[in-house]
Amino acid sequence: MELNIAVLPGDGIGPEIVEQGMKVVRAVCRKKGHGLYEKTALVGAIAIKEMGNPYPNSTHDLCMRSDAVFFGAIGSPEYDNDPTAKVRPEQGLLAMRQKLGLYANIRPVTTFPTLLHKSPLRPDLVEGADLICIRELTGGIYFGRPQGRSEDGETAYDTCVYTRKEITRIVHLACEYARNRRKKLTVVDKANVLATSRLWRQTAQAVASEYPDVAVDYMFVDNASMRLIQSPADFDVIVTENMFGDILTDEASVITGSLGMLPSASIGIHTSVFEPIHGSFPQAAGKNIANPLATILSAALMFDYAFKLSEEAALIRQAVDASIASNVVTPDIASSGIAPASTTDVGDFIATHILSIP
Ligand code: IPM
Ligand code: MG
Repeated sequence: MELNIAVLPGDGIGPEIVEQGMKVVRAVCRKKGHGLYEKTALVGAIAIKEMGNPYPNSTHDLCMRSDAVFFGAIGSPEYDNDPTAKVRPEQGLLAMRQKLGLYANIRPVTTFPTLLHKSPLRPDLVEGADLICIRELTGGIYFGRPQGRSEDGETAYDTCVYTRKEITRIVHLACEYARNRRKKLTVVDKANVLATSRLWRQTAQAVASEYPDVAVDYMFVDNASMRLIQSPADFDVIVTENMFGDILTDEASVITGSLGMLPSASIGIHTSVFEPIHGSFPQAAGKNIANPLATILSAALMFDYAFKLSEEAALIRQAVDASIASNVVTPDIASSGIAPASTTDVGDFIATHILSIP
C-alpha cells in the first residue's frame, strides 16, 4: 500500500518525538513492504516565527492532500507568559481542527501492568482500567463567538455554543465505540447548570434509544472527575463536550502512570490527525529525555484508523510492550535503580524490534 503522511512536528519536544514515531513508521513500512511518502510542514510557534501564521495555508493544503497527519505538539512559554499576544500557537491547532473538520478526538486510556506502580493512584484501583474518552473537538466554548474583551478591558467573555447536529454525530460515534467494546457509555455534561449541557443530555437520550444494547448513563462533569479517580475501571466509553473532554483526558492520562503514554486520534470530515495528548513540554526540549511512547502509540492508531492496517498497528504495540518489559524507557517511567534510556534509544529499540520480529 502507498501511505502519504503529512508530518507536523511543531514546537518544544514535538520534533524529537515525531522523529521517533516516524522511525517506527518507516520500520513498519519496510517490514510490510508499504511505500511511504512523508512531507513535513510547519505548525505552532515555529510557524508563527517563520511564516507569521500558526497554521499556514501551505500546511493545510498538505494535510488535505495526505492520507493522515502525524502531529507532535505545539506551544511555547514565550506565548504562555504573554496573555496580550495577538497570534498564539494554540490558534494553529484550533484552526487545523476546524479546517479539517476534526469533530471527534479519541483518547484511549489503557494501563500497562508493569507500570502500575508509577500511577499516583493505588495499583488496586488502576488495575484493569481500560477506557476511551471521546471528546467533541470543534464546538463549544473553544470556538463559540462572541469571544473577547469589553472596550475598557475590564470584562472578558467566551461563548459556549452547541447544535443538536454536532451532538448527534458525536454521540452516534460514541455509541458505535461502546457497541464494539463493553457496551457501556457515560455521557458527561453539566445539565444541572448549562443550557448547552441540557441539549447534550436531551440529544444523547434520543440517540441512545437507537442503541438498546448499549447501557448509557449520564454524569455531571464534577462528579465524573471524582469517579475517574475513585474507580477508573468502572468506565468504558465516555463522551463529552470540548472543554470537559480537554480537562478529563489530562486527568485520565495520569491514571496510567505518565502523561507520556497516551496517544490520540482526531477524526472527522477530512484527513485524520494522530498526536500524543501531552503538550510541547518546553523544559525538556532538546534534552533527549522526552517519552516518545505516546507518539509511537499514535502511529499505531494511525495504522489502525487511517490505513486500516491492524497487523501493522499490533506490531507497534508489541514492540512498545517489549521496550517497557526490557526497561528501555525514559526517566518518567523508569524503575528506580535502572538507568533510564534516552528518547532516541527508545525509538531505536522499538524500530529495531519491529524489524526483528519474525
Ligand atoms: C489538547 C490541548 C489543546 C486543547 C491546547 C494546546 C489548545 O490541551 O489537545 O488537549 O486545549 O485542546
Ligand atoms: Mg488538553
